[in-house]
Amino acid sequence: MMVRLQKVIAASGIASRRAAETMIRDGHVTVNGNVVRVLGTCVDPSKDHVKIDGRRVQPAEPEVFVLLHKPAGYVTTMDDPQGRPTVADLVPKVKVRVFPVGRLDYDTEGLLLLTNNGKVAQACVHPRFHVPKTYLVKVSGVCTDEEIRNLEDGIVLDDGMTAPATIRKSGKAKANSWLELTIHEGRTHQVKRMLEALGHRVMRIKRVRFGPLELGDLSVGVSRFATDAEANALRAVVHRTARTRSVREPVGSSDLQSSKPAGDTVPPRMRQTKAPANRIVRDTGRNARLASGNPRQPGQVVKGQRRARTRNG
Ligand code: URA
Repeated sequence: MMVRLQKVIAASGIASRRAAETMIRDGHVTVNGNVVRVLGTCVDPSKDHVKIDGRRVQPAEPEVFVLLHKPAGYVTTMDDPQGRPTVADLVPKVKVRVFPVGRLDYDTEGLLLLTNNGKVAQACVHPRFHVPKTYLVKVSGVCTDEEIRNLEDGIVLDDGMTAPATIRKSGKAKANSWLELTIHEGRTHQVKRMLEALGHRVMRIKRVRFGPLELGDLSVGVSRFATDAEANALRAVVHRTARTRSVREPVGSSDLQSSKPAGDTVPPRMRQTKAPANRIVRDTGRNARLASGNPRQPGQVVKGQRRARTRNG
């Protein structure tokens, strides 16, 4: 890809864009051995040798965002000492090292982001950035409206009270319930622990949204690069703070609402469209209030003391 010379120099961290322009104008910069003084000159950082006063400018590593539909039965790590299948087996072999953003349990399926952008990764998982994560969850038994309200308002787990969540029920369940649950934290096994604290065993769990990303129709086991719009939305997460956002963010359209009622009906998004496969379908772009001193026990909700819904959780 052709990029402006001053941008290549600035991206390498050697100088600001403006200082790079001055270097170019003053004749300090060569491309493939030839002095270049024209500011609009474009180069291919992967092929052209750019030097400043004879010293090579190392091209910046390209930024990569990969969306993977993680199947159950894979560990969210790039390398497993126990030799189990890992998500690394399912992502494209790119030159740069990508790593998973947050973690999905071994038995959890759904949307997993992998990237080499540390700032985006950190913002996506840090509670301060309030990035929503939406899960479709099948639980044992019927979740009552009161239980749902309790989950939404926050319950006490062994590592503290959960922040407000958004929950939608899928129809009238008889034996098991399907829920669409949006949380803004990323504690270990959080969804399972929230539901188990109320006596509901999680039977199936699938993440369908992660911040600005949607799982959509990405088949199980398949990965793809983010579109330019998705990459821009991910970069924008870094610049957002909890203060700018409502706790009850709209979670967008939900198949759960349109899916058939009754306990065991599998919402359309849980249907496996394809068997796991190590392939990319398209390349459309470049790419917790801790209950300190809180006398409540994990899972307990004190009636009449539901936490006020605040904008910042
Ligand atoms: N919550 C869980 O319990 N498991 C996951 O994999 C993700 C969220």
